[in-house]
Amino acid sequence: MKLLKSITLISLCASVLLAAPKEEKVETPVEVQKTELQKTVEIGESTSKLLIQTLGKNLKEHMSKGDIMGALKFCSDKAYPITSEVNSQLPHGVTTKRISLKYRNPANAPKENEAKILESFESLRDLNVAMPEYLVEKVANKTYKFYKPIMIADNACLECHGKVSKDIDLQREITKVYPLDKAVDYKLNDLRGAVVVTITHE
Ligand code: HEC
Repeated sequence: MKLLKSITLISLCASVLLAAPKEEKVETPVEVQKTELQKTVEIGESTSKLLIQTLGKNLKEHMSKGDIMGALKFCSDKAYPITSEVNSQLPHGVTTKRISLKYRNPANAPKENEAKILESFESLRDLNVAMPEYLVEKVANKTYKFYKPIMIADNACLECHGKVSKDIDLQREITKVYPLDKAVDYKLNDLRGAVVVTITHE
């Protein structure tokens, strides 16, 4: 009985010893992943806010003058350069852009899993689920994509993304620059797209 006990004890110790390095291996990545995820969310929130606020501030200035054609020209000439400028100010390993399933600028078409993520936002809406604040996708070791939904939250958006066909001049101007424009016929509170922040941790 005693012998059996000590054998059990030894084998227990042995298994603990054997298991120890294994456990360490399992624990480390989980811990790292947790802080990486937290960092991803922090960087994602601040970067998406920066992009939306920078674009929004400039658009508002034009819209407040009531000059819709000027505002349209601003969007088509400047939305991309402003996005590049925001990107040039971001820390190393961080980039941002806007995507949409119904895009105006083909450069904003979703890539790889991005379309699936946008579709999943849409399905949640169809199920009457409150829109999540964000989603995080792990795309590779140390690399994540942070998705922030963009909603048609303001009637002003509908000026250029709503029933555009009723303003012939505006419609003509839009199709001149974007012959394959899909970004029309939205309604208030529709999902317009998302800001994507791609983050590679050091
Ligand atoms: C004055 C016209 C105008 C208004 C108002 C406007 N947009 Fe746009 N929007 C554009 C143009 C033009 C583009 C294409 C910009 C480019 O070439 O990158 C665009 C592009 C976008 C994109 C990128 C995806 C795509 O379709 O290419 C999103 C997202 C977007 N708009 C959301 C909004 C939201 C949300 C509002 C309201 C806050 C809004 N827009 C108001 C003209 C407008």
